Amino acid sequence: MLAVAVLAAGKGTRMKSDLPKVLQPLAGATLVERVLASCERLDPQRRLLIVGHQAQRVERSLSHHGGLEFVLQEPQNGTGHAVQQLLGPLAGFEGELLVLNGDVPLLRSETLEHLLERHRSSGAAVTLLTARLTDPTGYGRVFADGSGAVSAIVEHRDCSAEQRANPLINAGIYVFDWKRLAEVLPRLTSDNDQGELYLTDTVALLQPAMHLEVEDADEINGINDRLQLAQCEGVLQERLRRHWMREGVTFVDPATCTLSDGTRFGRDVIVQPQCHFRGRVAVGEGCRIGPGCLIEDSAIGNGVELLYSVLRDVTVEDGAVVGPFAQLRAGAHIGKGARIGNFVEVKNSQLGAGVKANHLSYLGDADLGANVNVGAGTITANYDGVRKHRTVIGAASKTGANSVLVAPISLGERVTVAAGSTLTENVPSGALAFGRARQVNKLDWVGPAAAGADR
Ligand code: UD1
Ligand code: CA
Repeated sequence: MLAVAVLAAGKGTRMKSDLPKVLQPLAGATLVERVLASCERLDPQRRLLIVGHQAQRVERSLSHHGGLEFVLQEPQNGTGHAVQQLLGPLAGFEGELLVLNGDVPLLRSETLEHLLERHRSSGAAVTLLTARLTDPTGYGRVFADGSGAVSAIVEHRDCSAEQRANPLINAGIYVFDWKRLAEVLPRLTSDNDQGELYLTDTVALLQPAMHLEVEDADEINGINDRLQLAQCEGVLQERLRRHWMREGVTFVDPATCTLSDGTRFGRDVIVQPQCHFRGRVAVGEGCRIGPGCLIEDSAIGNGVELLYSVLRDVTVEDGAVVGPFAQLRAGAHIGKGARIGNFVEVKNSQLGAGVKANHLSYLGDADLGANVNVGAGTITANYDGVRKHRTVIGAASKTGANSVLVAPISLGERVTVAAGSTLTENVPSGALAFGRARQVNKLDWVGPAAAGADR
Protein backbone atom coordinates (compact mmCIF):
# COMPACT_ATOMS: atom_id res chain seq x y z
CA MET A 1 0.00 0.00 0.00
CA LEU A 2 1.22 3.44 -0.87
CA ALA A 3 0.05 6.81 0.42
CA VAL A 4 1.35 10.11 -0.91
CA ALA A 5 1.36 13.29 1.13
CA VAL A 6 2.15 16.67 -0.39
CA LEU A 7 3.24 19.41 1.98
CA ALA A 8 1.45 22.53 0.80
CA ALA A 9 0.54 24.45 3.94
CA GLY A 10 3.40 26.92 4.02
CA LYS A 11 3.00 30.58 3.18
CA GLY A 12 6.05 30.93 1.02
CA THR A 13 7.16 34.17 2.66
CA ARG A 14 10.16 34.52 0.37
CA MET A 15 7.92 34.73 -2.73
CA LYS A 16 6.50 38.05 -1.46
CA SER A 17 3.17 37.24 -3.05
CA ASP A 18 -0.54 37.30 -2.22
CA LEU A 19 -0.76 33.89 -3.86
CA PRO A 20 0.15 30.85 -1.75
CA LYS A 21 3.47 29.55 -3.04
CA VAL A 22 2.14 26.20 -4.23
CA LEU A 23 -0.31 28.06 -6.50
CA GLN A 24 2.38 29.95 -8.37
CA PRO A 25 2.22 29.01 -12.05
CA LEU A 26 5.00 27.24 -13.88
CA ALA A 27 4.67 26.59 -17.62
CA GLY A 28 0.90 26.78 -17.34
CA ALA A 29 0.36 24.58 -14.27
CA THR A 30 0.61 25.42 -10.57
CA LEU A 31 3.49 24.06 -8.50
CA VAL A 32 1.19 21.74 -6.57
CA GLU A 33 -0.43 20.41 -9.77
CA ARG A 34 3.03 19.56 -11.06
CA VAL A 35 3.95 17.82 -7.84
CA LEU A 36 0.72 15.80 -7.94
CA ALA A 37 1.34 14.89 -11.58
CA SER A 38 4.81 13.59 -10.76
CA CYS A 39 3.40 10.83 -8.56
CA GLU A 40 0.38 9.86 -10.69
CA ARG A 41 2.22 6.94 -12.27
CA LEU A 42 2.82 5.38 -8.88
CA ASP A 43 -0.93 4.94 -8.57
CA PRO A 44 -1.09 5.55 -4.81
CA GLN A 45 -4.06 4.25 -2.78
CA ARG A 46 -4.27 7.48 -0.79
CA ARG A 47 -3.38 11.02 -1.82
CA LEU A 48 -3.26 13.55 0.98
CA LEU A 49 -2.61 17.23 0.65
CA ILE A 50 -1.58 19.15 3.73
CA VAL A 51 -3.00 22.65 3.49
CA GLY A 52 -2.90 25.60 5.86
CA HIS A 53 -2.04 29.03 4.54
CA GLN A 54 -5.01 30.08 2.34
CA ALA A 55 -6.20 26.48 2.58
CA GLN A 56 -9.52 27.12 0.86
CA ARG A 57 -7.88 28.76 -2.10
CA VAL A 58 -5.51 25.83 -2.52
CA GLU A 59 -8.39 23.36 -2.20
CA ARG A 60 -10.51 25.26 -4.70
CA SER A 61 -7.68 25.30 -7.22
CA LEU A 62 -7.60 21.50 -7.09
CA SER A 63 -11.35 20.88 -7.07
CA HIS A 64 -11.17 19.16 -10.47
CA HIS A 65 -8.70 16.57 -9.10
CA GLY A 66 -10.62 13.57 -7.82
CA GLY A 67 -9.64 11.48 -4.81
CA LEU A 68 -7.60 14.07 -2.91
CA GLU A 69 -7.85 14.17 0.88
CA PHE A 70 -7.23 17.63 2.30
CA VAL A 71 -5.69 17.74 5.75
CA LEU A 72 -5.59 21.06 7.59
CA GLN A 73 -2.42 22.14 9.36
CA GLU A 74 -3.18 25.09 11.63
CA PRO A 75 -0.94 26.85 12.57
CA GLN A 76 1.96 25.96 10.27
CA ASN A 77 4.69 24.95 12.63
CA GLY A 78 7.13 23.28 10.27
CA THR A 79 7.34 20.29 7.96
CA GLY A 80 7.42 17.81 10.87
CA HIS A 81 4.30 19.39 12.34
CA ALA A 82 2.70 19.14 8.90
CA VAL A 83 3.27 15.39 8.73
CA GLN A 84 2.07 14.99 12.34
CA GLN A 85 -1.37 16.02 11.01
CA LEU A 86 -1.47 12.68 9.18
CA LEU A 87 -1.47 10.65 12.41
CA GLY A 88 -5.28 10.84 12.49
CA PRO A 89 -6.12 10.33 8.80
CA LEU A 90 -3.55 7.55 8.37
CA ALA A 91 -4.27 5.76 11.68
CA GLY A 92 -4.13 2.03 11.00
CA PHE A 93 -2.63 2.53 7.54
CA GLU A 94 0.00 -0.05 6.66
CA GLY A 95 2.50 0.59 3.95
CA GLU A 96 4.73 3.33 2.66
CA LEU A 97 4.22 7.05 2.86
CA LEU A 98 5.79 9.11 0.09
CA VAL A 99 6.22 12.70 1.25
CA LEU A 100 6.66 15.39 -1.39
CA ASN A 101 7.40 19.04 -0.81
CA GLY A 102 4.79 21.10 -2.63
CA ASP A 103 7.48 23.46 -3.87
CA VAL A 104 9.65 20.91 -5.72
CA PRO A 105 7.88 20.76 -9.09
CA LEU A 106 10.38 19.33 -11.59
CA LEU A 107 10.56 15.76 -10.32
CA ARG A 108 10.26 13.03 -12.93
CA SER A 109 7.92 10.12 -12.25
CA GLU A 110 10.77 7.71 -13.09
CA THR A 111 12.83 9.18 -10.26
CA LEU A 112 10.04 8.56 -7.77
CA GLU A 113 9.60 5.00 -9.06
CA HIS A 114 13.30 4.48 -8.63
CA LEU A 115 13.20 5.89 -5.09
CA LEU A 116 10.36 3.54 -4.17
CA GLU A 117 12.18 0.53 -5.60
CA ARG A 118 15.34 1.42 -3.70
CA HIS A 119 13.36 1.80 -0.49
CA ARG A 120 11.62 -1.54 -0.91
CA SER A 121 14.76 -3.47 -1.81
CA SER A 122 16.92 -2.03 0.98
CA GLY A 123 14.39 -2.51 3.79
CA ALA A 124 15.21 0.93 5.19
CA ALA A 125 12.82 2.76 7.52
CA VAL A 126 13.18 5.85 5.35
CA THR A 127 14.76 6.54 1.97
CA LEU A 128 15.22 10.10 0.81
CA LEU A 129 16.21 11.78 -2.39
CA THR A 130 19.42 13.78 -2.42
CA ALA A 131 21.57 15.75 -4.84
CA ARG A 132 25.08 17.08 -4.88
CA LEU A 133 24.96 20.81 -5.63
CA THR A 134 27.73 23.26 -6.43
CA ASP A 135 25.72 25.85 -4.52
CA PRO A 136 23.82 24.06 -1.73
CA THR A 137 22.85 27.32 0.02
CA GLY A 138 19.48 27.14 1.74
CA TYR A 139 19.02 23.38 1.57
CA GLY A 140 19.27 20.90 4.43
CA ARG A 141 22.60 19.02 4.37
CA VAL A 142 22.55 15.24 4.39
CA PHE A 143 25.21 13.35 6.31
CA ALA A 144 25.74 9.90 4.88
CA ASP A 145 28.43 7.25 4.63
CA GLY A 146 29.77 5.53 1.52
CA SER A 147 27.09 2.83 1.64
CA GLY A 148 24.31 5.40 1.35
CA ALA A 149 23.30 5.17 5.01
CA VAL A 150 22.14 8.53 6.36
CA SER A 151 22.84 9.55 9.94
CA ALA A 152 21.30 13.04 10.03
CA ILE A 153 19.96 16.02 8.12
CA VAL A 154 20.89 19.49 9.32
CA GLU A 155 19.12 22.57 7.98
CA HIS A 156 21.30 25.22 6.34
CA ARG A 157 20.57 27.78 9.07
CA ASP A 158 21.45 25.27 11.80
CA CYS A 159 24.72 24.14 10.17
CA SER A 160 28.19 24.95 11.40
CA ALA A 161 30.57 26.44 8.82
CA GLU A 162 32.13 23.03 8.43
CA GLN A 163 28.77 21.34 7.89
CA ARG A 164 27.81 23.92 5.28
CA ALA A 165 30.69 22.74 3.11
CA ASN A 166 28.80 19.46 2.59
CA PRO A 167 27.34 19.59 -0.94
CA LEU A 168 24.90 16.69 -0.42
CA ILE A 169 21.46 18.20 0.04
CA ASN A 170 17.99 16.99 1.03
CA ALA A 171 15.54 17.28 -1.85
CA GLY A 172 12.51 17.20 0.45
CA ILE A 173 11.26 13.90 -1.02
CA TYR A 174 11.03 10.88 1.25
CA VAL A 175 9.59 7.38 1.40
CA PHE A 176 8.82 6.31 4.96
CA ASP A 177 7.63 3.09 6.45
CA TRP A 178 4.48 4.76 7.81
CA LYS A 179 4.17 2.74 11.03
CA ARG A 180 7.72 3.50 12.05
CA LEU A 181 7.38 7.16 11.15
CA ALA A 182 4.16 7.38 13.16
CA GLU A 183 6.06 6.12 16.21
CA VAL A 184 8.73 8.83 16.07
CA LEU A 185 6.63 11.81 14.88
CA PRO A 186 5.42 12.67 18.41
CA ARG A 187 9.03 12.86 19.56
CA LEU A 188 10.01 15.84 17.37
CA THR A 189 11.17 18.97 19.17
CA SER A 190 11.51 22.56 17.98
CA ASP A 191 15.06 22.87 19.17
CA ASN A 192 16.35 24.73 16.08
CA ASP A 193 16.92 28.18 14.66
CA GLN A 194 13.32 28.53 13.40
CA GLY A 195 11.69 27.02 16.47
CA GLU A 196 9.70 24.65 14.23
CA LEU A 197 9.16 20.91 14.09
CA TYR A 198 11.32 19.56 11.27
CA LEU A 199 10.40 16.45 9.34
CA THR A 200 14.11 16.10 8.62
CA ASP A 201 14.72 15.35 12.31
CA THR A 202 12.84 12.04 11.98
CA VAL A 203 15.71 10.71 9.89
CA ALA A 204 18.11 10.50 12.83
CA LEU A 205 15.37 8.67 14.76
CA LEU A 206 14.66 6.18 11.99
CA GLN A 207 17.35 3.69 11.24
CA PRO A 208 18.41 2.43 8.85
CA ALA A 209 17.90 5.57 6.74
CA MET A 210 19.12 5.53 3.15
CA HIS A 211 19.42 8.07 0.39
CA LEU A 212 19.25 7.99 -3.37
CA GLU A 213 21.18 10.61 -5.26
CA VAL A 214 19.52 12.01 -8.40
CA GLU A 215 21.57 12.20 -11.56
CA ASP A 216 19.96 15.38 -12.82
CA ALA A 217 20.09 17.91 -9.99
CA ASP A 218 17.64 20.17 -11.86
CA GLU A 219 14.88 17.77 -10.90
CA ILE A 220 14.99 18.61 -7.24
CA ASN A 221 15.08 22.40 -7.53
CA GLY A 222 13.01 23.78 -4.69
CA ILE A 223 11.20 27.05 -5.22
CA ASN A 224 11.40 29.56 -2.43
CA ASP A 225 11.62 32.83 -4.33
CA ARG A 226 10.99 34.35 -7.76
CA LEU A 227 14.54 33.71 -8.91
CA GLN A 228 14.13 30.00 -8.35
CA LEU A 229 10.70 30.15 -9.99
CA ALA A 230 12.29 31.63 -13.11
CA GLN A 231 15.10 29.05 -13.05
CA CYS A 232 12.59 26.22 -12.89
CA GLU A 233 10.57 27.72 -15.72
CA GLY A 234 13.78 27.73 -17.73
CA VAL A 235 14.45 24.07 -16.96
CA LEU A 236 10.89 23.06 -17.88
CA GLN A 237 10.94 25.04 -21.11
CA GLU A 238 14.24 23.49 -22.08
CA ARG A 239 12.82 20.00 -21.42
CA LEU A 240 9.75 20.71 -23.56
CA ARG A 241 11.70 22.17 -26.48
CA ARG A 242 14.21 19.33 -26.46
CA HIS A 243 11.40 16.82 -26.47
CA TRP A 244 9.77 18.39 -29.53
CA MET A 245 13.03 18.87 -31.38
CA ARG A 246 13.60 15.14 -30.96
CA GLU A 247 10.14 14.59 -32.40
CA GLY A 248 10.99 16.48 -35.56
CA VAL A 249 10.18 20.14 -34.88
CA THR A 250 12.63 22.86 -35.91
CA PHE A 251 13.08 25.75 -33.52
CA VAL A 252 15.04 28.49 -35.24
CA ASP A 253 15.86 30.22 -31.97
CA PRO A 254 14.66 27.85 -29.25
CA ALA A 255 15.45 30.02 -26.25
CA THR A 256 12.98 32.68 -27.42
CA CYS A 257 10.00 30.31 -27.56
CA THR A 258 7.89 28.95 -24.70
CA LEU A 259 5.68 25.86 -24.69
CA SER A 260 3.09 24.34 -22.38
CA ASP A 261 2.80 20.68 -21.39
CA GLY A 262 -0.32 20.53 -23.51
CA THR A 263 1.40 21.60 -26.74
CA ARG A 264 1.60 18.96 -29.49
CA PHE A 265 3.35 19.24 -32.85
CA GLY A 266 3.32 17.17 -36.02
CA ARG A 267 6.55 16.59 -37.92
CA ASP A 268 8.40 19.20 -39.92
CA VAL A 269 6.92 22.16 -38.17
CA ILE A 270 9.20 25.17 -38.24
CA VAL A 271 8.87 27.45 -35.26
CA GLN A 272 10.41 30.84 -35.89
CA PRO A 273 11.66 33.04 -33.02
CA GLN A 274 9.38 34.52 -30.36
CA CYS A 275 6.49 32.09 -30.48
CA HIS A 276 4.53 31.13 -27.39
CA PHE A 277 2.19 28.18 -26.97
CA ARG A 278 -0.14 27.99 -23.99
CA GLY A 279 -2.70 25.55 -22.71
CA ARG A 280 -3.74 22.81 -25.11
CA VAL A 281 -2.41 23.50 -28.56
CA ALA A 282 -2.23 20.98 -31.39
CA VAL A 283 -0.18 21.95 -34.43
CA GLY A 284 -0.35 19.70 -37.52
CA GLU A 285 2.48 18.66 -39.81
CA GLY A 286 4.57 20.98 -41.93
CA CYS A 287 3.33 24.23 -40.39
CA ARG A 288 5.35 27.37 -40.33
CA ILE A 289 4.74 29.27 -37.13
CA GLY A 290 6.03 32.77 -36.50
CA PRO A 291 8.00 34.74 -35.91
CA GLY A 292 6.01 36.40 -33.18
CA CYS A 293 2.92 34.29 -32.47
CA LEU A 294 0.94 33.63 -29.32
CA ILE A 295 -1.25 30.51 -29.58
CA GLU A 296 -3.47 29.32 -26.77
CA ASP A 297 -5.91 26.38 -26.56
CA SER A 298 -6.18 26.00 -30.32
CA ALA A 299 -6.10 23.38 -33.05
CA ILE A 300 -3.96 24.13 -36.09
CA GLY A 301 -4.18 21.84 -39.15
CA ASN A 302 -1.42 20.73 -41.52
CA GLY A 303 0.61 23.13 -43.65
CA VAL A 304 -0.69 26.23 -41.91
CA GLU A 305 1.32 29.47 -41.88
CA LEU A 306 1.04 31.87 -39.00
CA LEU A 307 2.92 35.12 -38.81
CA TYR A 308 2.93 37.71 -35.99
CA SER A 309 -0.53 36.78 -34.82
CA VAL A 310 -2.48 36.02 -31.67
CA LEU A 311 -4.77 32.97 -31.63
CA ARG A 312 -6.87 31.91 -28.66
CA ASP A 313 -9.47 29.17 -28.57
CA VAL A 314 -9.62 28.76 -32.32
CA THR A 315 -9.43 26.16 -35.07
CA VAL A 316 -7.42 26.73 -38.22
CA GLU A 317 -7.78 24.16 -40.97
CA ASP A 318 -5.14 22.82 -43.36
CA GLY A 319 -3.26 25.21 -45.59
CA ALA A 320 -4.65 28.42 -44.13
CA VAL A 321 -2.42 31.48 -43.93
CA VAL A 322 -2.85 33.87 -41.02
CA GLY A 323 -1.18 37.22 -40.47
CA PRO A 324 0.85 39.21 -40.17
CA PHE A 325 -0.94 40.95 -37.31
CA ALA A 326 -4.20 39.04 -37.16
CA GLN A 327 -6.11 38.33 -33.99
CA LEU A 328 -8.23 35.19 -33.90
CA ARG A 329 -10.41 35.06 -30.81
CA ALA A 330 -12.59 32.48 -29.10
CA GLY A 331 -14.67 30.43 -31.49
CA ALA A 332 -12.99 31.50 -34.70
CA HIS A 333 -12.93 28.62 -37.18
CA ILE A 334 -10.79 29.26 -40.23
CA GLY A 335 -11.51 26.93 -43.15
CA LYS A 336 -9.10 25.13 -45.46
CA GLY A 337 -6.77 27.35 -47.41
CA ALA A 338 -8.36 30.55 -46.07
CA ARG A 339 -6.32 33.72 -45.80
CA ILE A 340 -6.54 36.10 -42.90
CA GLY A 341 -4.38 39.14 -43.38
CA ASN A 342 -3.11 42.13 -41.49
CA PHE A 343 -5.23 43.82 -38.83
CA VAL A 344 -8.08 41.38 -39.18
CA GLU A 345 -9.91 40.29 -36.05
CA VAL A 346 -12.14 37.22 -36.10
CA LYS A 347 -14.32 36.12 -33.19
CA ASN A 348 -16.93 33.37 -32.84
CA SER A 349 -17.19 32.99 -36.60
CA GLN A 350 -17.07 30.18 -39.13
CA LEU A 351 -15.05 31.01 -42.21
CA GLY A 352 -15.43 28.50 -45.02
CA ALA A 353 -12.68 27.08 -47.19
CA GLY A 354 -10.82 29.59 -49.31
CA VAL A 355 -12.24 32.68 -47.59
CA LYS A 356 -10.04 35.73 -48.02
CA ALA A 357 -10.09 38.49 -45.43
CA ASN A 358 -6.85 40.17 -46.17
CA HIS A 359 -6.98 43.63 -44.67
CA LEU A 360 -8.39 45.64 -41.77
CA SER A 361 -11.59 43.80 -40.88
CA TYR A 362 -13.68 42.74 -37.93
CA LEU A 363 -15.63 39.53 -38.38
CA GLY A 364 -17.61 38.76 -35.23
CA ASP A 365 -20.48 36.26 -34.86
CA ALA A 366 -20.46 35.60 -38.58
CA ASP A 367 -20.81 32.60 -40.88
CA LEU A 368 -19.00 32.92 -44.18
CA GLY A 369 -19.45 30.32 -46.93
CA ALA A 370 -16.61 29.04 -49.07
CA ASN A 371 -14.52 31.49 -51.09
CA VAL A 372 -16.08 34.65 -49.70
CA ASN A 373 -13.89 37.64 -50.40
CA VAL A 374 -13.97 40.13 -47.58
CA GLY A 375 -13.02 43.59 -48.81
CA ALA A 376 -10.59 45.74 -46.87
CA GLY A 377 -12.24 47.39 -43.89
CA THR A 378 -15.36 45.22 -43.89
CA ILE A 379 -16.98 45.22 -40.47
CA THR A 380 -19.72 43.02 -39.09
CA ALA A 381 -21.62 45.31 -36.71
CA ASN A 382 -22.67 42.53 -34.36
CA TYR A 383 -23.62 44.40 -31.21
CA ASP A 384 -26.74 46.51 -30.72
CA GLY A 385 -25.71 47.64 -27.28
CA VAL A 386 -27.52 44.76 -25.58
CA ARG A 387 -27.17 41.62 -27.65
CA LYS A 388 -24.83 40.15 -30.24
CA HIS A 389 -26.33 39.19 -33.61
CA ARG A 390 -25.10 37.03 -36.46
CA THR A 391 -24.08 37.91 -39.96
CA VAL A 392 -24.37 35.27 -42.67
CA ILE A 393 -22.55 35.63 -45.99
CA GLY A 394 -23.18 32.98 -48.65
CA ALA A 395 -20.46 31.26 -50.65
CA ALA A 396 -18.50 33.20 -53.29
CA SER A 397 -19.86 36.57 -52.17
CA LYS A 398 -17.69 39.63 -52.16
CA THR A 399 -17.90 42.65 -49.91
CA GLY A 400 -16.49 45.96 -51.11
CA ALA A 401 -14.00 48.00 -49.14
CA ASN A 402 -15.41 49.64 -46.01
CA SER A 403 -18.67 47.70 -45.96
CA VAL A 404 -20.58 47.66 -42.71
CA LEU A 405 -22.93 44.72 -42.31
CA VAL A 406 -25.39 45.50 -39.53
CA ALA A 407 -26.44 42.23 -37.90
CA PRO A 408 -28.69 40.37 -37.84
CA ILE A 409 -28.28 40.22 -41.58
CA SER A 410 -28.02 37.54 -44.19
CA LEU A 411 -26.40 37.79 -47.61
CA GLY A 412 -27.05 35.04 -50.13
CA GLU A 413 -24.46 33.39 -52.38
CA ARG A 414 -22.52 35.28 -55.06
CA VAL A 415 -23.62 38.59 -53.61
CA THR A 416 -21.57 41.69 -54.33
CA VAL A 417 -21.59 44.51 -51.82
CA ALA A 418 -20.60 47.89 -53.19
CA ALA A 419 -17.70 49.60 -51.49
CA GLY A 420 -18.63 51.92 -48.65
CA SER A 421 -22.04 50.32 -48.10
CA THR A 422 -23.85 50.11 -44.80
CA LEU A 423 -26.28 47.22 -45.15
CA THR A 424 -29.16 46.67 -42.76
CA GLU A 425 -31.33 44.42 -44.92
CA ASN A 426 -30.86 40.91 -46.27
CA VAL A 427 -29.52 40.51 -49.81
CA PRO A 428 -30.70 37.69 -52.11
CA SER A 429 -28.23 35.45 -53.93
CA GLY A 430 -26.61 36.87 -57.02
CA ALA A 431 -27.55 40.50 -56.22
CA LEU A 432 -25.40 43.61 -56.14
CA ALA A 433 -26.20 45.64 -53.04
CA PHE A 434 -25.54 49.35 -52.61
CA GLY A 435 -26.07 50.93 -49.24
CA ARG A 436 -24.64 54.37 -49.67
CA ALA A 437 -25.51 57.79 -51.03
CA ARG A 438 -25.13 58.11 -54.74
CA GLN A 439 -22.19 60.18 -55.86
CA VAL A 440 -23.02 63.60 -57.28
CA ASN A 441 -20.59 65.49 -59.48
CA LYS A 442 -21.20 69.26 -59.80
CA LEU A 443 -19.59 70.28 -63.01
CA ASP A 444 -17.52 73.45 -63.41
CA TRP A 445 -17.95 74.16 -59.77
CA VAL A 446 -16.36 77.35 -58.43
CA GLY A 447 -15.38 76.99 -54.79
CA PRO A 448 -15.83 79.81 -52.21
CA ALA A 449 -12.18 80.81 -52.26
CA ALA A 450 -12.20 81.29 -56.01
CA ALA A 451 -15.63 83.04 -55.84
CA GLY A 452 -14.37 85.55 -53.24
CA ALA A 453 -11.33 86.39 -55.33
CA ASP A 454 -13.68 87.34 -58.16
CA ARG A 455 -15.37 90.10 -56.12
C1 UD1 B 1 12.88 21.85 3.29
C2 UD1 B 1 13.72 20.87 4.09
C3 UD1 B 1 15.18 20.94 3.62
C4 UD1 B 1 15.24 20.63 2.13
C5 UD1 B 1 14.29 21.55 1.35
C6 UD1 B 1 14.19 21.07 -0.08
C7 UD1 B 1 12.72 20.77 6.31
C8 UD1 B 1 12.84 21.18 7.74
N1 UD1 B 1 13.66 21.22 5.50
O1 UD1 B 1 13.37 23.16 3.58
O2 UD1 B 1 15.97 20.01 4.33
O3 UD1 B 1 16.57 20.80 1.69
O4 UD1 B 1 12.97 21.53 1.90
O5 UD1 B 1 13.46 21.93 -0.89
O6 UD1 B 1 11.80 20.05 5.97
N2 UD1 B 1 5.21 23.31 4.70
C9 UD1 B 1 4.05 22.92 5.31
N3 UD1 B 1 3.85 23.25 6.61
C10 UD1 B 1 4.75 23.96 7.33
C11 UD1 B 1 5.96 24.34 6.68
C12 UD1 B 1 6.16 23.99 5.36
O7 UD1 B 1 3.19 22.29 4.70
O8 UD1 B 1 4.49 24.22 8.51
C13 UD1 B 1 5.40 22.94 3.26
C14 UD1 B 1 5.64 24.15 2.41
O9 UD1 B 1 4.40 24.63 1.87
C15 UD1 B 1 6.55 23.61 1.32
C16 UD1 B 1 7.30 22.48 2.00
O10 UD1 B 1 6.57 22.17 3.17
O11 UD1 B 1 5.81 23.10 0.25
C17 UD1 B 1 8.73 22.86 2.34
O12 UD1 B 1 8.73 23.96 3.22
P1 UD1 B 1 9.85 25.09 3.16
O13 UD1 B 1 9.58 26.06 4.25
O14 UD1 B 1 9.98 25.61 1.78
O15 UD1 B 1 11.13 24.23 3.55
P2 UD1 B 1 12.64 24.53 3.17
O16 UD1 B 1 13.16 25.60 4.08
O17 UD1 B 1 12.77 24.75 1.73
CA1 CA C 1 11.37 25.01 0.09
